[in-house]
Amino acid sequence: MTEHADPLGSSFARFADEIGRAAPTYGAICRGVAAVPEVLALLDGIPTPQRRPVLLLAAVHHRLLELPDESLARHYRTITPEGEHGDPVPEFIAFCAEHADALRSTIARRSTQTNDVGRAALIYPTLLPVVARTEKPIGLVDIGTSAGLNLHLDRFAYHYHDEDGGEVRLPGHAPELDCLVRGTSARALLDGPSPRIGHRVGVDPTPIDPSDPEEARWLLACLWPDQVERVDRLRAALILAADYRHEVEILTGSGVDRASEAVRRSRATGSCPIVLNTWSLTYFHPEERATYVNELDRLGEEDDLAWVYLEAPNETPELPWGEVDRNISLSVLRRIDWQSGRRTETTVGIAHPHGRWIDVTDR
Ligand SMILES: C[S@@+](CC[C@H](N)C(=O)[O-])C[C@H]1O[C@@H](n2cnc3c(N)ncnc32)[C@H](O)[C@@H]1O
Repeated sequence: MTEHADPLGSSFARFADEIGRAAPTYGAICRGVAAVPEVLALLDGIPTPQRRPVLLLAAVHHRLLELPDESLARHYRTITPEGEHGDPVPEFIAFCAEHADALRSTIARRSTQTNDVGRAALIYPTLLPVVARTEKPIGLVDIGTSAGLNLHLDRFAYHYHDEDGGEVRLPGHAPELDCLVRGTSARALLDGPSPRIGHRVGVDPTPIDPSDPEEARWLLACLWPDQVERVDRLRAALILAADYRHEVEILTGSGVDRASEAVRRSRATGSCPIVLNTWSLTYFHPEERATYVNELDRLGEEDDLAWVYLEAPNETPELPWGEVDRNISLSVLRRIDWQSGRRTETTVGIAHPHGRWIDVTDR
């Protein structure tokens, strides 16, 4: 990596090294603008940790999704699927100069955000034992809900397949979520009655409204132009979430402050709540995670409850990880059940962070 006079330049160059192989378009852009002060200046005044390449890249992508006829768009496969693999840097610099005011305004009021619908393929089978044992409908309580995509997990189509050639297809709306099952058969993983959802509530300090085109565009823009498949899945999921937006309650605020209220709202509808966390607890402060875990324990002692979480143990050591090594950085899927005053913990497996596979092999 080349050192740059501006530390932000070095951070662009470092980012280019990290992602260049997986995301060649962004790799080339970040390398190319690392020594271009006019481009770096667009992040002036932005406090860390947001003063990062990804925020500028998302702001440009966001504007470009609105202006697909701009010549820079031919380098973005999310806009021009057949993609052009020439050097995107001169057009990127020119685009930044031409749209500097709009980009500065987006950068000043936004932070990067994601919502990966693929995680629903991991959560869905993890709910089934709870569905099987309760006569109540399920209340989904998604903490760190972003655009609320997990709240529609009963509506997507799924294709689970295993290493022995077994498969289970669950019909539903697009996108169809594809998940490889390791360590058991797809059929065994999906054993049980389908969930009947009685209530859906999400909590997030900065929720995204999927029915607002500008908001939806921001979520799409935070994905990378080389990640065409993720963008296609997200587009389809946002359309579905917009269509059913009226069925979802969203509480704006921190999960630490509003999880109990969300669980109570769920219980008030006669549903059995299942709290979901997918890659959101890493954003809590350590002491907030500890408070949150205690709060869920208290709610579970009050009445039946389940908690499904997909997080990296090394980033969230305050969570109950049981036998799981707290130093690992993989996505681990667990469920805690409180049933008739009894608390049990289950490690479901290790999974791809975006739900491409799940490995339920005992370790
Ligand atoms: C990486 S995204 C994951 C979103 C979604 N759960 C998923 O799996 O795609 C993290 C989410 O956590 C939210 N978040 C950050 N701090 C939070 C807090 N204190 N309480 C609840 N959500 C929070 C962010 O706004 C963001 O939407």
